[in-house]
Amino acid sequence: MGQVTASAPGKCILFGEHAVVYGEPAVAVAIEQRISVTLALLESSESPWKIDGIHFNARKHPHVQALRNRMWQSSQGAPNLSIQIHGDIPPASGLGSSAALSVAAGAALRCARGRWYSEPGDIQNPETWAEGYAHSLEHAEIYTLDRKEVLAHRLNASPNHYLSGEETVSEDECALLGHAVEAVAQKGRASPMDASTCAHGGVVLLSDQLESDFDFLYTRTLAMDDGERTWHLHSIDLPEASKEVFLVIGNTGVYAPTSQQVAKVASAIKANPERIKEIETIGLIARRGIQHLKNGDYEAVGRAMSENQIMLQGLGVSCPELENLIRAAAPTSLGAKLTGAGGGGCMVALTRNPKQTSEAIELAGGRTLISKFGNSGLSIEKCENMPLWSSERSMPPQ
Ligand code: PMV
Repeated sequence: MGQVTASAPGKCILFGEHAVVYGEPAVAVAIEQRISVTLALLESSESPWKIDGIHFNARKHPHVQALRNRMWQSSQGAPNLSIQIHGDIPPASGLGSSAALSVAAGAALRCARGRWYSEPGDIQNPETWAEGYAHSLEHAEIYTLDRKEVLAHRLNASPNHYLSGEETVSEDECALLGHAVEAVAQKGRASPMDASTCAHGGVVLLSDQLESDFDFLYTRTLAMDDGERTWHLHSIDLPEASKEVFLVIGNTGVYAPTSQQVAKVASAIKANPERIKEIETIGLIARRGIQHLKNGDYEAVGRAMSENQIMLQGLGVSCPELENLIRAAAPTSLGAKLTGAGGGGCMVALTRNPKQTSEAIELAGGRTLISKFGNSGLSIEKCENMPLWSSERSMPPQ
């Protein structure tokens, strides 16, 4: 029987969370911890999808639900699938577990579902996909006109070639799917930072401008209720010196959903528009930090992280439990701050002494993970007997 397994890493944020939602620059790093998703066809048809042996509950897995809606029109119906999720990224703690799940599940579903191409022989070029990032314009609604035009173009192209398996998967597409489903889960307000870092791995920079010093990935646009946002995404190749520093992540164990924290910042700015200056200051700190990263000056990177934390505190997204772990990490680290949405979840310390920093955080009551820099992104671990179902072979995209 066919089976596919895809995995993606979690992430932590060096600079710029929350401010990135308003278009300011930010940097995220893929961590060693990962989530893997395994798909197989479900023999019995009593339930369309089962996750870890239990009937799929859309409320419990909003990202998987959004992914399913995006990949299958409701009239089309998704095939019956068994989905197994494994991993060591703690959920709802600022480490990108939802994005890693979305990216890995998107890749596994794409492998299993296959894709129509308009020009055989050019399968790596997304521009020749007969079926694009979303198979219907309705589900692409979250993206702006530009994207819709691309999709319309693809849907008009005559489909003539069907493929399934690993070669149909694109990191770019999985990052886009991941961003789209995060935007749905965060009520329309989400940056592409988590999904792109989980898909591409390494170190990802989001900027309000094209950065000539770094490798350009793509530009993303999202319409929010208070205006359109644009992010230019790049990947940062770190100098050799990055092998000497580590990230120690401390988990407060306090549950803090991202959507609530993002909404809290949005209402603070709405109530007092002057507070956008705090967001801009985070952007300035991030920009300095990016230069230090490029130069391999990790002492200065650490200082910029700690400055960023002071601003996040001011914004109201830190909490006593995070402050306690950040204080504990300070004497043995180059800098420390919360990572992700805050209000609980995790902090991250940049350190040359991971063991000492980890022990200090554990003594203060945090659970720790240690990660090096430069971890790989999306990976197809196993892919046997694709496609998992055959009806689509004879069904061109609508
Ligand atoms: O807590 P996480 O891992 O979902 O990270 C959220 C990062 C934010 O900047 C607060 C939101 C976003 O969409 O970028």
